[in-house]
Amino acid sequence: MSKILSTKLTEMIERKRAYFQLCYQESEQINFGEVFGNNNPVYLEIGCGRGEFLVKQSLLEWQCNFVGVEMKGNRLDLILRQLDEERHRNVRLLDIYIDAQTISYFPAKSLRKIFIIQPDPWPKRTHHRRRLINHAFLDMLSLLLEQRGILEIQTDHEEYAHWILKHLAERRDFMPVYGGVSKIPRHGHIVTYFEEKKMREGFSPLYITYRKKKVVSETEEN
Ligand SMILES: C[S@@+](CC[C@H](N)C(=O)[O-])C[C@H]1O[C@@H](n2cnc3c(N)ncnc32)[C@H](O)[C@@H]1O
Repeated sequence: MSKILSTKLTEMIERKRAYFQLCYQESEQINFGEVFGNNNPVYLEIGCGRGEFLVKQSLLEWQCNFVGVEMKGNRLDLILRQLDEERHRNVRLLDIYIDAQTISYFPAKSLRKIFIIQPDPWPKRTHHRRRLINHAFLDMLSLLLEQRGILEIQTDHEEYAHWILKHLAERRDFMPVYGGVSKIPRHGHIVTYFEEKKMREGFSPLYITYRKKKVVSETEEN
């Protein structure tokens, strides 16, 4: 690439970063009403990779706001290249590593849907503790979701799918939607980079959908 082209590309990415990348202060929670200038439902995608889902789904559901979280800077730059300040006014990016601390930047009950598409399966038993989905993480997602909010997870790793379903089944705050798991993608499904890569290797994804349930306390039950 010529020097002029690469300078122009850098300038374009920096201009888009100024628009799309969410600034946050560790001491303050993000105010989505202020960020988007409306009170439309907010959808969160965790680990958006190269952004296929975020970039396309946000155009289809333009009446919802989308926040994409990705910890790798080079992948965020790829997403920024595809976003357009006019057509993607309902999208923002967050360059954080989602964990117990950073998830506290989001207000409780602020999300209508959370998507986790093709999370790293960490297949070795000794690496299972690195998996995103565990009870501590589900506790946090549960706090962030509105009542009846939706959690959608997609994985082509059979053992990880069982792990996720087992964790969800053990909880009182999530209930399955349409049986909770399906081999059939929903209408208009967007195929992501990692999904396509794994399909070429012969692995088909499972689509897991759960809903946040109102938990009735034991005193209310009695
Ligand atoms: C296997 S890739 C899937 C990417 C994309 N969803 C897709 O289907 O093509 C997992 C992505 O999640 C990101 N990721 C993993 N753990 C994360 C975390 N705790 N916080 C933010 N991003 C994370 C990785 O950097 C990577 O881009």
